[in-house]
Formats: sequence, C-alpha cells, structure tokens
Amino acid sequence: MTQAVGIARAHTNIALIKYWGKRDKNLFLPMNSSLSLTLEAFYTDTKVTFDDHLTEDIFLLNGKEQSEKEVAKISRFLDLFCEYIGERPFARVESINFVPTAAGLASSASAFAALSLAVADALKLDMTRQELSTFARRGSGSSTRSLFGGFVEWEMGTSSEDSMAHPVDDADWDVGMLVLVVDSQEKKIASRIGMEHTVQTSPFYPAWIESAREDLQAMKAAIAEKDFETLGRITEHNGFKMHATTLSANPPFTYWSADSLLAQEAVRQVREELQVPAYMTMDAGPNVKVLCRASDMGRLQKALSAHFPVEKIISSLPGPAAYVLSEADWQQSKTRLTEGNHL
Ligand code: ADP
Ligand code: DP6
Repeated sequence: MTQAVGIARAHTNIALIKYWGKRDKNLFLPMNSSLSLTLEAFYTDTKVTFDDHLTEDIFLLNGKEQSEKEVAKISRFLDLFCEYIGERPFARVESINFVPTAAGLASSASAFAALSLAVADALKLDMTRQELSTFARRGSGSSTRSLFGGFVEWEMGTSSEDSMAHPVDDADWDVGMLVLVVDSQEKKIASRIGMEHTVQTSPFYPAWIESAREDLQAMKAAIAEKDFETLGRITEHNGFKMHATTLSANPPFTYWSADSLLAQEAVRQVREELQVPAYMTMDAGPNVKVLCRASDMGRLQKALSAHFPVEKIISSLPGPAAYVLSEADWQQSKTRLTEGNHL
C-alpha cells in the first residue's frame, strides 16, 4: 500500500430505548440493549487516507487540527482495524460534522460510524455491516447503531463479537423527529463519564436495567404493529427513567438546564392544544427531541415557535444507513464547510 483512501457519510441516531452504562469499559459492552431512530438531518462526513509516507496519524475536525488527546482517540480506534489487517499504516483523517459537536446531538455516533465505513472502504475490508458495527462500537457505543437506517437495535450480546447492531424497520411510515436546540455548546459531563458515575452510584440503576429490558420488548412489538402511540409512550417513559438515574446518582447531576424544562413544558402545552401525538426524549445534553408523525411536523413546529425560537427547531425524517461517498461529494461537503454552512 502506498495510499488508500475511503470516504463515508453516517447519520446520527437518537435512542428511543437508551444505552446508559457499560459492563465492560474497554470493549464498550453495554449493560442493556438499545433501540434508536437514525436521523436524516444530522450527519458526519469522514475521509481517511492511509499513507506509507506519514509518520503519525493526523486528525482534522471541521478543518481544524485537533488536540493530542483527540488524535490519540482516533489512533486507538484505527489500531483496532490495523490489528485486524496485521499492519499499521498511519492515516490522515478529515471529518466534517453536520451536527453540533458534543452537545448531546449524537456527534460521536455519526462520527465513529462514518470513520468505520471510511476505513473499511479504504482497506477494502471484507466484512458485513453487522460485523463493522462491532468496530464502530469501540469508538462510541451509540455509533454501533449509526451504520444502519431507520429503527435500529443494538443487541447487548454476550461478547465483543456479538454486541452488534441490526436494522429493525425502515421507519418509512409517517415517523419524524423535531429537535429543539436548547444549547449547542459542548456539554460539561461527557456521556462516558456520566454513565459510569451513574452505574457506580445510583440505587435506581438495577431498576433502570430491568425496565429498559421490558421497554425494548414492548417497543419492538409496537414497531412491528406500526403502533405509533405505544412507540411514543415507551420512548418518553424510557428517556425520563434514564434521567432519573442521573438525579439519583451520588453526587447527583443532570443534563437538563432551566431552558430544557421550558422546552419540555412547551411540548406538553402544544401537544395538548393540537391534540397530536408527540413524545419527548433527551440525551446527555440539554436538548429536547420530539418523536412525532412526519405529517404533524409542520403544525407542531409552527405551534412550538410561539414558545421557542423557530430557527432552533430542526425537523428530521428518518435517515438512511451509512454510505460511501465519492471524492466529488467530499469536495462539496468541504465547500459547505468553508461557506460556514455546517451546523
Ligand atoms: P455527542 O452528544 O455529540 O455525541 P459525546 O461527548 O458523546 O457528545 O461525543 C463527542 C466527542 O466525540 C467529541 O468530543 C470527539 O471526541 C468525538 N467526535 C465528535 N465528532 C467527531 C468526528 N467527526 N470525528 C471523530 N470524533 C468525533
Ligand atoms: C444518552 O455512545 O456517547 O445518548 O459509548 O461512552 O461513547 P460512549 O457513550 P455514547 O452514549 C450515548 C448515551 C445516550 C443514549 C444512547 O444514545 O443510547
């Protein structure tokens, strides 16, 4: 090999049954299986160039060289693939987030899924998507699910080899999501740290695991029947239960801000007013996501704009599985970056 290039796009996903806790920190094995919806509106594009002339890995995010710590994270991730192929060429990794970074909008999910597919493309790896998802998992747990589109389950598995994602349903039945961007700044407590502290100290944690297991079974049945209201009710309940584990950690903490509570209240008011099904969920950040029918997104967005800045309400349809990009696509993404047209 002198040079090997791969480019890929992966969309973020929002968990409807949350992954919140690891049983093995090094292998990223989760405490429970989770289920998500891939979103069309947010994604990461990543180009990897393995080059024999490089003497170290290079990592640029949104056109900026990253800190040693960030490069080290990428290098450790590339090591996994290099162990697999039995050689260690260095790489230049360039990535563009069309999603705010580290704000609880799942940039790490799209990031490591895009990087995994770009590496697989560059190295011409002969593996299934599911197998590739076991690699993505070790960059960030939630990225396991971003290799697929629509509703996706990440099975907790029994080992590193079978803790993988698989598609559940293409979500092509009047499903959508509104994202209320309360704050797109970097969060103070990374999900990794927050979940570890919760597992170690929350007396509610065993109850969370038990009920997440039940929620998952009920949600898969609701999806199979295309029963939107049951799907939504389980989504909202599951998310709030996850956040109850942070409030019961010791010392307690929360990802919610005062504005998150106002956004939640706005959703309650608007769904009551319009009498449309709309269900909230939140992740490791202050932003509020609303699972709703795609056909109700316009009405909901309009009504919510009486309470919340309209330009901060982003609507999304279900997104596709990760895919390989051409050099021309990559150049277009770079142009959007230089024009400031990325989130
Ligand atoms: P988020 O809610 O955005 O997923 P996390 O704290 O879980 O927040 O993950 C954010 C971290 O993921 C960043 O600090 C960075 O280390 C990594 N990350 C984000 N985007 C990229 C990218 N495009 N390529 C590689 N790593 C990324
Ligand atoms: C609340 O996947 O970001 O969004 O595996 O440590 O990188 P690491 O954590 P990450 O955690 C996601 C937590 C969540 C729920 C979810 O996406 O399932």
